[in-house]
Order: sequence, then C-alpha cells, then structure tokens
Amino acid sequence: MELNVKKIEENLKTAAIGRQIHYYEQVTSTMDVAREMAEGGAMEGSVVVAEEQTSGRGRFGRKWVSAAGEGLTFSVVLYPGVWAVSRLTIATAVVVARVLNRGYGLMPGIKWPNDVRVNGKKICGILVETAFQDDQVRYALIGIGININQSPDLLDGEMSSQTTSIAYEVGHKLDREEVLQAVLLELSYVYSSLEEWSTVWADWLKAMEHLGENIKVLWGDRVEEGIAEGVDNDGNLLMRRKDGSVVSLAAGEVTFQV
Ligand code: BTN
Repeated sequence: MELNVKKIEENLKTAAIGRQIHYYEQVTSTMDVAREMAEGGAMEGSVVVAEEQTSGRGRFGRKWVSAAGEGLTFSVVLYPGVWAVSRLTIATAVVVARVLNRGYGLMPGIKWPNDVRVNGKKICGILVETAFQDDQVRYALIGIGININQSPDLLDGEMSSQTTSIAYEVGHKLDREEVLQAVLLELSYVYSSLEEWSTVWADWLKAMEHLGENIKVLWGDRVEEGIAEGVDNDGNLLMRRKDGSVVSLAAGEVTFQV
C-alpha cells in the first residue's frame, strides 16, 4: 500500500525534519534524488522516500536491496556545521534503536559504526554522504534503510541468515507510516540537540556490540586485529593491538568483521 506522506507531513509540521516529504514509486537511489534537491537548495529536513530503489547503495559500494513496498528506504537533507558531521551516523543509529525499542519492544544492538541489529541480525543500514566546499559543509545526506514487513524469504537470499525485519521479530506486520513518522520525529529531536550529546552517547555505548571482544577490521588493504576497547567522542573505534598499542579507526574508512 502506498505511503500516505501527507499525513506524516501534517503531524510533523513543527519538527526539524519531515515537514516536506517527497514520495516516489521508483528511484535509482534516494541518495541521488536527495543530492539533487540539496544542490538545488532544498529546505533543511526535506525527506525523499521511495517504494523501490533500482540502485540502492550501502557503505563501501555495497548494494542495498529492499523489496518494493515492504521496507522503508529514505534520505534526509541536512545542512549541519562541520563539527556535527561525525555525529550524524551515531545519532541516527541511536534514533532507530530507540524507535525499535520504545515502539516495538525490541532490544537492538549497534554494530559499529552504523548497523542496527536485532538478535544479531541486521535490521537497518545507515549511509551518510557529505559534500564539502572550502572547509564548510554544503550538505549532508542521511540515508536510512529499515526492514519492516519483509519475511525472511524476501530478505536478500544470501544474507537471510544475517538480516531480519521488524515484522519477523515481533510476529506481525506493521504500519510503515507509523515507523517513518517515529524515526523522523526522534531524528528531529536528536538533530536539534546534537550539541547536547551525552544521552545519545550513553545510549550508543549501551547498545554497542562487541566491546571487549576480539575483532578484525579491514582498513584500506590492511587487516588489523585486536580488542575493541571503546569509542572516542568522535565515534572512532579504539582498538588495542596485540602489542598493546591502541589504534583509532574512523568509521568512514574501515570494515568491521567479527
Ligand atoms: C549500509 O548498511 O551499508 C548502509 C545502507 C543504507 C541504505 C539506505 S536505503 C535509503 C538510502 N538510499 C540508498 O541508496 N542507500 C540508503
């Protein structure tokens, strides 16, 4: 069923994000459409949502596949300060985790830096793309893909042992509008108070999986192995190598393996 975005816009008319929602049946990627809109000076907090993406993308050039009409795939146009950019991924992961917990009773974990998982399976992916000019942020786009009503066989075949959906976890189908509105509302709240970071930060640390465990990361063409010791204020992962040295890994550059 088509998403009624007018109703959500009405309910979010005083929120920072979601006052304008552009709805499409099919796009290449909501990131492409959001980028064009940002280049054209779209209002901050504009949202692009599509039923189907023909080239949905994830981090490191991976594909994001979502059956039409079953999940939510959307992007948000923002114009943050430079200082805020490194917080966007973390903030968004916390927002989605809060919505899944408060609205649906799930206990999500976050696999650093940006996979939201339930029972060890990915339920949401987040992609932040930023354009800079002369050390200033021209715009930042937050792309969010959430598996909502997919049954396991509709989830990407190869990945079905590693992915799940909200419906699968709670045992019934959901109203996608309700989830979209809840995420946009919480994101508005968190984005508007990004300077007050401590509660987001605390939720992130609580949800973060694999702290204290032995992990492997791919860093360019290098593989680093060590213990995940924590994260610093910018969201970098701190890993202690076997020789005792600690390396700080930036989210944009590393693939995390368990
Ligand atoms: C990842 O897990 O690597 C990130 C996946 C991000 C997917 C979302 S779906 C909406 C937006 N449009 C895209 O093409 N990608 C993001």
